[in-house]
Amino acid sequence: MSLNINKADVVIVGAGASGLMCAAVAGQRGRKVLVLDHAKRAGTKILMSGGSKCNFTNYEISARNYFSNNPHFCKSALKQFSQWDFIEIINRYNIPFEEREHGQLFCINSAVDILDMLLAECKKGFVEFQMNCAINDIALCCNNTQFFESMTSEHGNQNEKSHCKGVDNAISHCKGVDNAIDSIHSGFNISTDKGIFYAKSLVISTGGLSIPSSGATPFGLKTAEKFGISIVPPRAGLVPLTLQPGDKKIFSDLSGIALEASVICTKHTFRENILFTHRGLSGPAILQISSCWNPGDEIMIDLLPDLNLFELLVEQKKRNPNKKLKTVLSKILPKRLISALLPVSLEEKSLQEISLKTCGDVSNMLQKWRLKPGGTEGYRTAEVTLGGVDCNEISSKTMESNKIKGLFFTGEVLDIAGWLGGYNLQWAWSSGWCAGQTV
Ligand code: FDA
Repeated sequence: MSLNINKADVVIVGAGASGLMCAAVAGQRGRKVLVLDHAKRAGTKILMSGGSKCNFTNYEISARNYFSNNPHFCKSALKQFSQWDFIEIINRYNIPFEEREHGQLFCINSAVDILDMLLAECKKGFVEFQMNCAINDIALCCNNTQFFESMTSEHGNQNEKSHCKGVDNAISHCKGVDNAIDSIHSGFNISTDKGIFYAKSLVISTGGLSIPSSGATPFGLKTAEKFGISIVPPRAGLVPLTLQPGDKKIFSDLSGIALEASVICTKHTFRENILFTHRGLSGPAILQISSCWNPGDEIMIDLLPDLNLFELLVEQKKRNPNKKLKTVLSKILPKRLISALLPVSLEEKSLQEISLKTCGDVSNMLQKWRLKPGGTEGYRTAEVTLGGVDCNEISSKTMESNKIKGLFFTGEVLDIAGWLGGYNLQWAWSSGWCAGQTV
């Protein structure tokens, strides 16, 4: 696509979910919008999402579905642009979708439908794109003269303007001028390998750190840091958990077994499938709980969430005293799993040979299975990044920085991470829409 502008009302860095939404909204409000991205094509994670069917939102969305150091932050944006607003656009484009369990909405055809829709909305707003674009530097411009030296520049001129060469210097210099940076700077210079672009508003929509091979970078976090905006330390979320070496030895043979379970960690409970893998545990319930898990935490798993195993064993003990424990258990759990969890000596015993206390112990082993994971698989396989730009420094209504006027952050780069189930994309749509209304 040929580039017609080097001066825009709005430059958005990141042509992903939130950046495209922001671009479409701002463009349709009449703003001159330029989107920059280092990737070859827009919306890589949208295309990967939901096993390429894009779980684009959820019928049930509230602040309780999100993790953040500021749990109230997401409320305003989710209200201003809700799941119903996104569904309305989907319907306008006649995109076929279906509801799966837990209110999750997926495309019937392909995630491409969602990306095409966003690009069509951008086209309506005459949004320009510069893909394959490496961003070298961002600098504030003062008093309508684009005079700030590079934020990262080592050398400035000796005249007064060049005192503003670094962000820290810029802030202190500007404070010295009239005590408020927002009344000083008039925009941003974005220098790239495709030239220098100027914008009144700059939106950072560069997403989280997960799946580096998809083009994820810490650009957004670094930009925030350079502008003196705090960061909540990032870590991988919605990610498989790995096992400690001892447990790995025992459980790696179970690879491939999947079953519905209830998983608890730090007061959060998720009931969905768990999956044993070569490295540890995965499946939706584990991915969900991984976002509440911190190194050293124990997780507790109920492998039979619909059952009171103790009552069942007591009843069977009365009715079928000669039955072996493993025969009873193998009707309700995979045999390989029972063998891994229970001592062989116990498995082979008949029900009449085991005491009521042992029935209780067996129930606890299977319904209150306590496990201390060794770690997570990290950003390589994580679906989302927890932490990010500190929401306490951002307006929850507009996504604008409180400190640097005209600087916005949207989507996953912020310290908001949703549950599995369409919540992260909805956050991208909602936050992108709010910024798009304001830039
Ligand atoms: P997003 O990641 O979409 O976009 C960031 C953009 O910034 C990219 O285009 C990238 O190239 C660009 N960029 C990064 N660094 C840059 C730099 N230095 N210079 C220039 N450009 C740069 N969520 C959900 O709700 N439902 C789902 O089904 C799924 N499924 C899913 C599957 C997989 C495999 C993953 C990894 C993630 C999901 N997610 C999901 C999460 C969801 O995809 C994610 O939260 C949103 O895409 C975040 O939107 P953003 O706009 O914040 O970033």
